[in-house]
Amino acid sequence: MTIPRNSELLMNTYGRFPLTVVRGEGVRVFDETGRAYLDFGSGISVNNLGHCHPAVAAAIQEQAARLCHCSNLYWSEPQLTTAAYLTKYSGMDRVFFCNSGAEANEGAIKLARKYAHDKGGSGRFEIVTMKKSFHGRTLATLTATGQDKVKTGFAPLPEGFVYAPFNDIEGLKSVISDKTCAVMLEPIQGEGGIIPADESFLKDVKALCDEKGLLLIFDEIQCGLGRTGTMFAFERYGVKPHIVTNAKSLGGGLPFGAFSAVEEVASVFGPGSHGSTFGGNPVAAAAANAYFKTMEEENILENVVSAGKYLTEKLLALKEAFPDVIRDVRGRGLMLGAEVAGGAAPIVAACLERGLIILNAGPDVLRFLPPYIITAEQIDEAAEILKKALISVTE
Ligand SMILES: Cc1ncc(COP(=O)(O)O)c(C=O)c1O
Repeated sequence: MTIPRNSELLMNTYGRFPLTVVRGEGVRVFDETGRAYLDFGSGISVNNLGHCHPAVAAAIQEQAARLCHCSNLYWSEPQLTTAAYLTKYSGMDRVFFCNSGAEANEGAIKLARKYAHDKGGSGRFEIVTMKKSFHGRTLATLTATGQDKVKTGFAPLPEGFVYAPFNDIEGLKSVISDKTCAVMLEPIQGEGGIIPADESFLKDVKALCDEKGLLLIFDEIQCGLGRTGTMFAFERYGVKPHIVTNAKSLGGGLPFGAFSAVEEVASVFGPGSHGSTFGGNPVAAAAANAYFKTMEEENILENVVSAGKYLTEKLLALKEAFPDVIRDVRGRGLMLGAEVAGGAAPIVAACLERGLIILNAGPDVLRFLPPYIITAEQIDEAAEILKKALISVTE
């Protein structure tokens, strides 16, 4: 494992691991020496059908040879198909395409403010987000994020965001005011430590939003598009938002984001309200369409559910074997976390040394986001490596 010599040419914004990835195939990536790593991070829930899935790679190649870019001043077919897939699964009516998660949330924030402005006057602009949430790195989305560590040094931050404790309806009620226009949350917090919303909490939030005339925005950028065993994480809660955001998985490895909304809300946007040069790019949209088609044709969600159950069992067995290290195992589908004593970083590093890529979520949680095509044998292999890593940090 060597670090490229020209690493000083890049801004030092990531705590990078000593690994250069040159190729990916299915659930594995390979470094420049040809060494294989089992990828239980999926590029942070991006390569969810595995690396270079043949259907996605073929769709990208074919579309790249036909039409690489089309201005949003004109129509192009691939993005209409992606919009059809997204609205079919989300139950939303209209979609806006962008290029990343932060942009999707930024657009959702604009839409919520515009809706409040057009319907109720300019005094309602505040959005309540959750403590420990993560919504992105642009100025508005880092301000929306309920973690101070992403904000330090970037003042002045835009106004209009307040924070409530997650899974605490009374705490949420206490910060709602006559300035509030929306509540925004991740149904399963990712970066904050793999923390699922309680079902009763999401139902109470929805009821509160209905009672106060507030919009409900779900950030499904990490937990959406199949990761938890349903296409949208909110499905299993039986709570439908007014706006939902997606990215990561959407482009099958290409940069692609979207926010979708119900007609009543989407209709406040007209020509000039919002825009993006690259949003809805035909190649990214073709990749997304291949992603959705494969999800459907190969019943991928079934594997997410069964593999998720199996991986949970394996993690629970490790919790029993290492009770002083693993404190809790939680999550849904193939979005799983293990809270550990003594910090996640040494275990993540010990796994990498042994050929397994996992992530952390905050300082104390190991995060497992394997591709949806993961098999029981590959889960066994990962669990064996994790066991050895746990032995190495407890010795
Ligand atoms: C829940 C959530 N929202 C937003 C983002 C930001 O997405 P991006 O990095 O594509 O801007 C992330 C990225 O980790 C995320 O997990």
